Amino acid sequence: MGWVLLWRCAALGFIGRAAGQAMGDGISKYTLPCDDPIPRIAWLQRYLPVVVAQDSCLDESDDASGALDTCTCNSSEYGVWEETEARVQLYHQKGFGIHLVNSSGRVTTGGMTVAAMERVFHDKLGNLTAFDAFLDYNLGLHLPPTGNYSLDAFIRRFDDDGEPYFPYTWQQEVTNQTYYGVFVRAPHSMLVLELVSNFSNTLAAAAQFGFSLTQLEPRVSSHVLDYLEATPTNYSVRPVHVSRAAANLADVDDFYTAIRTARTVEYAEANVSKTCYLWGGAEVEVCYTQRSSDATRGGFSVADFEDMLNGVHEDVIAPNPNCQRDKWNDFHYAYDNGQVSGQQIYEYVALKPGAYFVCTGAYVMYVVDPAGFTVQLDINGDYTLSTCDNSDWDWDVDPDHGGCVLGNCTPLAANSTLTVVDLTALLDDDGGAAGGGRRRSGGGSGSSSSGGGRAVLVAAMVFVAGVVVFTAFRERSQRKALYRKLPDDDDDEDTSHLE
Ligand SMILES: *[C@@H]1O[C@H](CO)[C@@H](O)[C@H](O)[C@H]1NC(C)=O
Ligand SMILES: *[C@@H]1O[C@H](CO)[C@@H](O)[C@H](O)[C@H]1NC(C)=O
Ligand SMILES: *[C@@H]1O[C@H](CO)[C@@H](O)[C@H](O)[C@H]1NC(C)=O
Ligand SMILES: *[C@@H]1O[C@H](CO)[C@@H](O)[C@H](O)[C@H]1NC(C)=O
Ligand SMILES: *[C@@H]1O[C@H](CO)[C@@H](O)[C@H](O)[C@H]1NC(C)=O
Ligand SMILES: *[C@@H]1O[C@H](CO)[C@@H](O)[C@H](O)[C@H]1NC(C)=O
Ligand SMILES: *[C@@H]1O[C@H](CO)[C@@H](O)[C@H](O)[C@H]1NC(C)=O
Ligand SMILES: *[C@@H]1O[C@H](CO)[C@@H](O)[C@H](O)[C@H]1NC(C)=O
Ligand SMILES: *[C@@H]1O[C@H](CO)[C@@H](O)[C@H](O)[C@H]1NC(C)=O
Repeated sequence: MGWVLLWRCAALGFIGRAAGQAMGDGISKYTLPCDDPIPRIAWLQRYLPVVVAQDSCLDESDDASGALDTCTCNSSEYGVWEETEARVQLYHQKGFGIHLVNSSGRVTTGGMTVAAMERVFHDKLGNLTAFDAFLDYNLGLHLPPTGNYSLDAFIRRFDDDGEPYFPYTWQQEVTNQTYYGVFVRAPHSMLVLELVSNFSNTLAAAAQFGFSLTQLEPRVSSHVLDYLEATPTNYSVRPVHVSRAAANLADVDDFYTAIRTARTVEYAEANVSKTCYLWGGAEVEVCYTQRSSDATRGGFSVADFEDMLNGVHEDVIAPNPNCQRDKWNDFHYAYDNGQVSGQQIYEYVALKPGAYFVCTGAYVMYVVDPAGFTVQLDINGDYTLSTCDNSDWDWDVDPDHGGCVLGNCTPLAANSTLTVVDLTALLDDDGGAAGGGRRRSGGGSGSSSSGGGRAVLVAAMVFVAGVVVFTAFRERSQRKALYRKLPDDDDDEDTSHLE
């Protein structure tokens, strides 16, 4: 079927798009857990125009140097440990972030360690001599046709350094314009960069001289390419997508539909399907690509990776989203937008049985997609979730770094002062929070309404002390999940400094 350009109508409801993707603004960063981040950051500094973020763990004895170091975390509940939070930003402190963290206080109970998964990436990708589905786990960066950060300049530097890369080309649909790209991996890590451009003398010439350049499906949507054309900047290296392989695009689509994030691209060919999404106000797309299961080397498949991730989430964060942290939640992108309330996301985590999420204080900080990857939410603190218990948080950790903050494991108590309305009746069989589907009568919540889930939700509002309260039970854990709209003057909690 090919690309379906959905974005023109999808974009209508958006708030004006930001002038540049950066911290505080749209998709703001790409974060990975990494066993040994500092050498990987040195690799990034060698090739990309980045600065070390001031909220990294820095060498305290020599602040001026800005040199990366480990932090010593000290919390009353978890004791003392060392960890590394290494962050760089493109061009300047507020630029798009590429963050590598070894949050040693977080655990991978029930799953693989980060070091073991880095070896899986290494075994699959090796010297990048062939395409592999695990290359779909990447950060896409667009390069200009000429200058120091052109694709040809990168290829020259990689060749000089003996750095392996995988070159490819694609024909853009509709325009049939030729694009070029290379995949490159920071050694011993899961950090794959996909560098793309509409121009490369080197790769065009190689193709002419009989080197068979791999032809891939369109890698960047026309939507993003049009946007780049329409908004020139003096910043040469521009993030275009956060990309994931996926074992089941339909599950991922259910998630983005429930949280009402616009679908911008649907692509389907015999052995590759892709769907991309664009968050409100964002210009970097989030894309998921599903390939045939033999599109990766070795026995470990994309589905195995997802099962492993979700297994850890089940063991670590499902029992209590305030307690401990799951190291695989560090595999995330962040969505920053102070103008959105996140109501749909709070509905999703409150109503969807089995949705994984992590609190920070009274807020939901991480929500996990069905593929097991996490989204960090840096949005307006308009909502809270009853299972996110502010008193469960030990804010006095030293230093105040994201990875040091682990919450505590006090069992959750039911909040007896609130009227609890059972909204599980609103859920589809598969638990979609967006409404529709089977209805049961339940809890006197007006569930006989023939409208969609949202109409019934509104009917189920309960006013308590002037705030609107929505409640629901999470079926699986029998825990009470409840989210509420805060009064407008509530102080917003800034979680953007957390990892
Ligand atoms: C060109 O890029 C390289 C690699 O990032 C960097 O070391 C060098 O300073 C850049 N030169 C200019 C003129 O920007
Ligand atoms: C950790 O914090 C406690 C309480 O503030 C303090 O007594 C202890 O010395 C600290 N430990 C380290 C290794 O800094
Ligand atoms: C990263 O953290 C893990 C604990 O999660 C630890 O075992 C490992 O040694 C750390 N890596 C490095 C290079 O210090
Ligand atoms: C990658 O290339 C290097 C140098 O040519 C070689 O030593 C190494 O064995 C290769 N690794 C893999 C996984 O193919
Ligand atoms: C698209 O471009 C390629 C490469 O330039 C060319 O081989 C092909 O014929 C073109 N296809 C169409 C439909 O124009
Ligand atoms: C490539 O993109 C640049 C903008 O990045 C544009 O100015 C140029 O015309 C494009 N080149 C081709 C061959 O389309
Ligand atoms: C781009 O322009 C801004 C504003 O004029 C300037 O501050 C910045 O240094 C420029 N960046 C580059 C990479 O040239
Ligand atoms: C996808 O299918 C095409 C045509 O059947 C084939 O040429 C290509 O190698 C396949 N790609 C992958 C990644 O399996
Ligand atoms: C739980 O009840 C207490 C009063 O006992 C109230 O102050 C608090 O706001 C309630 N929690 C939530 C999340 O509504």
